[in-house]
Amino acid sequence: MELLVVKDYEEMSKKAAAIIASQVIIKPNSVLGLATGDTPLGMYKELIKRYKENEVDFSKVKTFNLDEYYGLTKDNIQSYHFYMMNNFFKFINIDSNNVNIPNGTYNDIEENCLNYERKIKESGGIDVQVLGIGVNGHIGFNEPNVNFEAQTHLVNLDEKTIKSNARFFNSIDEVPKQAISMGIKTILQSRKIILLANGEAKAEAIYNTVKGKISPEVPSSILQLHQNVTIILDESAAKLL
Ligand code: PGA
Repeated sequence: MELLVVKDYEEMSKKAAAIIASQVIIKPNSVLGLATGDTPLGMYKELIKRYKENEVDFSKVKTFNLDEYYGLTKDNIQSYHFYMMNNFFKFINIDSNNVNIPNGTYNDIEENCLNYERKIKESGGIDVQVLGIGVNGHIGFNEPNVNFEAQTHLVNLDEKTIKSNARFFNSIDEVPKQAISMGIKTILQSRKIILLANGEAKAEAIYNTVKGKISPEVPSSILQLHQNVTIILDESAAKLL
């Protein structure tokens, strides 16, 4: 694991954007694994800026998002489809046919999940996967007591995740209790992984990720076994290291 501790959120975002931009410049048809939440917002802003300055061209890039709430339609403002469109995709020249996000409304969940895995494989696999981390060490929506072997699947969200994500909804009761998420195995198959974390609330999860025992109770701890992981932290998230 490579650890980069930077001053603040802005620097973390710039560093992450630089990694993604250079990946796309070197390989214009890169396959990117993308994340949602508060953490990568600054990275998306920085990538949009670089696109507007003609530094990076997304026209041949393919993307696969980590997860989607189960039960939310694409136009629901809480859905990750909506998030990706409004925080990133509509500002860059990505081809909408190259955008992939798990479908949260499919009835045949198993077929939907298998299809997602198949598409990732057919695209040649993910070159760089961006990850945030939950306060409980989840990556994607792979919650504690995870099955490290799982691929894209339906997950039940952990109490801590529901509480933490309630800030995006009118009330905690509106937070979906399930999601479709890439599995740990899917994530580990990416060639490169960058994990971003900022703020003190993530410090314990980061400590457990980097220094803890590899255990299903801390899903992110499995990243210790991946060959090419860069963790970018602000000083608060790195506080316990
Ligand atoms: P956040 O979520 O970026 O909104 O903190 C990260 C996560 O739960 O994976």
